[in-house]
Amino acid sequence: MNHRAIISGTGHYTPEHVLTNADLERMIDTSDEWIVTRTGIHERRIRSKDEATSDFIVAAARCALEQAGKTTAEIDAIIVGTVTPDYKLPSTASVVQRKLDIPKAAIVDIAAACAGFIYGLAMGQSFVESGMYRNVLVAGAETLSSITNYQDRNTCVLFGDGCGCAVVTRGENGEKENGTGILAAHISGDGRLGDLLNMPIGGSKVPLTPENYEQRGHLLHMDGREVFKYAVREMADSCVQAMEKAGVGIEDIDMIIPHQANIRIIEALVKKLKANRDKVFINIQNYGNTSAASVPIALDEARRAGKVTKGMTVLMTAFGGGFTWGSAVVRF
Ligand code: UT7
Repeated sequence: MNHRAIISGTGHYTPEHVLTNADLERMIDTSDEWIVTRTGIHERRIRSKDEATSDFIVAAARCALEQAGKTTAEIDAIIVGTVTPDYKLPSTASVVQRKLDIPKAAIVDIAAACAGFIYGLAMGQSFVESGMYRNVLVAGAETLSSITNYQDRNTCVLFGDGCGCAVVTRGENGEKENGTGILAAHISGDGRLGDLLNMPIGGSKVPLTPENYEQRGHLLHMDGREVFKYAVREMADSCVQAMEKAGVGIEDIDMIIPHQANIRIIEALVKKLKANRDKVFINIQNYGNTSAASVPIALDEARRAGKVTKGMTVLMTAFGGGFTWGSAVVRF
């Protein structure tokens, strides 16, 4: 590995419309009290009818590029982590390239669910470290409201829409020598557990038809209790692996940015890592679970709020359908 990959800019976008717990109380058999105590979520953002996933990315990418001091012409590759692409074909990365008027770039979507941004970051890091590319735009973006079953109280209270982006850049200012940049990433998965969080209808295996539409299998289904257990275990294990690879311990971490799926998952993770609760960034109350967008939205909010500043070491981690999981250690 010849080069050091750094995060040169971040940005995020969330749609304006707010869906509160009180709104959900009017839609299904639930309560604000249940949602807050079981998940930590107070509200989530929902797209307007004319907003697609690519529109979120365009807005967030512009902020990230501005912060990075990069023009669209400098982007060599666009990696989009999403399970809610604009279309099945072309990829959302392709739509983003067109909308941002990026002349030539490698374009790819990755369907790694909630771990999509960490997967993208790991791929961006590899592209830059190998010397293949100088600037990679990595997005985690979802319009989960488009695949949420608003008749299923087990899932519909959890999910929201949004996007976060990072520009991964070749560090050319001695980052390798002074130990800054993306220090390590770890990604993994277990396909044997894919049925615990899935959308069984609508793909090539069982195409969506007028006959099976009412089964609502084209919408998100989740066995929450099982997912919870694996999420805590695998995120904790992945954090340890990423920290080992980076040569740091939990005492060296200034901020943990975990996937915002459930406040109780975050608390269990903090306990397992023996981390300091004050060093964990939490915004689940405002956005719910935004899948691949969750970590990059939190990262950008933390940076813009001055909670992650130059010299700080950040541990990011996520877990999602597939199952997929991953972690990254970045020194800014
Ligand atoms: O981002 C990808 C990863 N996803 C996750 O990490 C999500 C992981 N799972 C979770 O966060 C939690 O399992 C949930 C929040 C989904 C559910 O919390 P839980 O504490 O595991 O609840 P549960 O599924 O065990 O359900 C407990 C009770 C049930 O009633 P009974 O059977 O005990 O009578 C549910 O029917 O709560 C009931 N319930 C609700 N009640 C009011 C489930 N959803 C609701 C609701 N409002 N919205």
